[in-house]
Amino acid sequence: MGEVRVTGAKNSVLKLMAASLLAEGTTTLREVPDILDVEYMSELLRRLGCEVIRDTDAGSVAITVPGVPSHKADYDLVRKLRASINVLGPLLARCGQADVALPGGDNIGSRGLDMHVAGLEKLGATVRSEHGFLIATRSERLRGAMVWLDFPSVGATENLLMAAVLAQGTTVIDNAAREPEIVDICAMLTSMGARISGVGTSTLEIEGVDLLSPTDHTTVPDRLVAGTWAVAAVMTQGDVTVGNARMEHLEIALDKLTLAGAIVEAAGDGFRVRCEDRPRSVDVVTLPYPGFPTDLQPQFIALNSIAHGAAMVTENLFEARFRFVNEMVRLGADVRTDGHHAMVRGKATLSGAPVEAADIRAGAGLVLAGLVAEGVTTVYEPHHVDRGYEGFVEDLVRLGADVSRIAVAP
Ligand code: UD1
Repeated sequence: MGEVRVTGAKNSVLKLMAASLLAEGTTTLREVPDILDVEYMSELLRRLGCEVIRDTDAGSVAITVPGVPSHKADYDLVRKLRASINVLGPLLARCGQADVALPGGDNIGSRGLDMHVAGLEKLGATVRSEHGFLIATRSERLRGAMVWLDFPSVGATENLLMAAVLAQGTTVIDNAAREPEIVDICAMLTSMGARISGVGTSTLEIEGVDLLSPTDHTTVPDRLVAGTWAVAAVMTQGDVTVGNARMEHLEIALDKLTLAGAIVEAAGDGFRVRCEDRPRSVDVVTLPYPGFPTDLQPQFIALNSIAHGAAMVTENLFEARFRFVNEMVRLGADVRTDGHHAMVRGKATLSGAPVEAADIRAGAGLVLAGLVAEGVTTVYEPHHVDRGYEGFVEDLVRLGADVSRIAVAP
């Protein structure tokens, strides 16, 4: 029981940092979470010739971009941070070339980057894959074009936005992603001088400008961290007030928690979630925003695993996310997967065990499960959680959880 405050969204701030490349001079970002991914992105920008000064107490980062940044993002950083692909659009627009190492396993045309590439080509870029790099060039200024995305990809929408703001003429991105993080980057780009209409809808229209100026922008609150705290409150039959959180960005997830038996209400600059009984299970189906977020799917599997009844969880974005189910089974959960469906039959108790976090949200889901499992749960590879959650352990302890970070011999 208690209060936690959420900082700016990881999935936004990494792109805002990339967007700073679009203007020479110093851009300041606020509500920047103190997480590993921000450190990786800072390092990437430094290698591109920027000066990056982080003030973790103030939660800000000041990025000074040179007149001509360099254009190469090396594999050692890209492999740590898939969001590095988001420097592709701004570097191509600013420098005329971008060489970005391919994130592991990806190739041109493969699932993962095909929409980024096809969209940039529509704007006049030439893109090729060479020696593990995606190399995008333009012989002249990018030209506005009509771009239809096969799927409302968050990353592709962002890359195309950042390329189109400095293109000549008007670009229309149809079937664009509508996530709050897209609205956030549009707000920042607009404050830099970009002309974008249709923000928050699936059709974005961008009228290219010649030059953008640096800006001062406050990052949108992290709806996925806020949602994780909300699930934690319900699973532990607790009472948590989440500050700096926007209920309207979590409508379906909070509605599901209400169906599970929680009371959710607005409180201060966020919301309060409490649950007095064992929760009831709830079906979820992940979809692009405003659908249920895939990044809250593992936490809801954890919730359903201790709820009354059975639930079907359908993952439509990243099937690999179900890998975490094996770890839940180690905790005694009754979960079976078939393709992109998982059937979860709730049990009265889970049983603590050593488990391994494979990604950020899986790590969060396992920690939540560990909170309610009998005995000790040890979550290995916690650096994944640190990539997305600032001060997670400290916040859990303040809320009364018995959690500690332990050093493990390599
Ligand atoms: C972002 C988020 C991630 C979130 C996801 C969906 C960041 C750093 N990450 O990831 O946490 O889970 O949005 O909300 O912001 N795809 C293609 N071709 C492409 C682009 C994407 O096939 O060119 C596929 C992907 O493989 C995936 C799906 O589309 O299956 C969704 O991807 P996308 O929306 O692009 O997610 P990311 O931007 O990678």
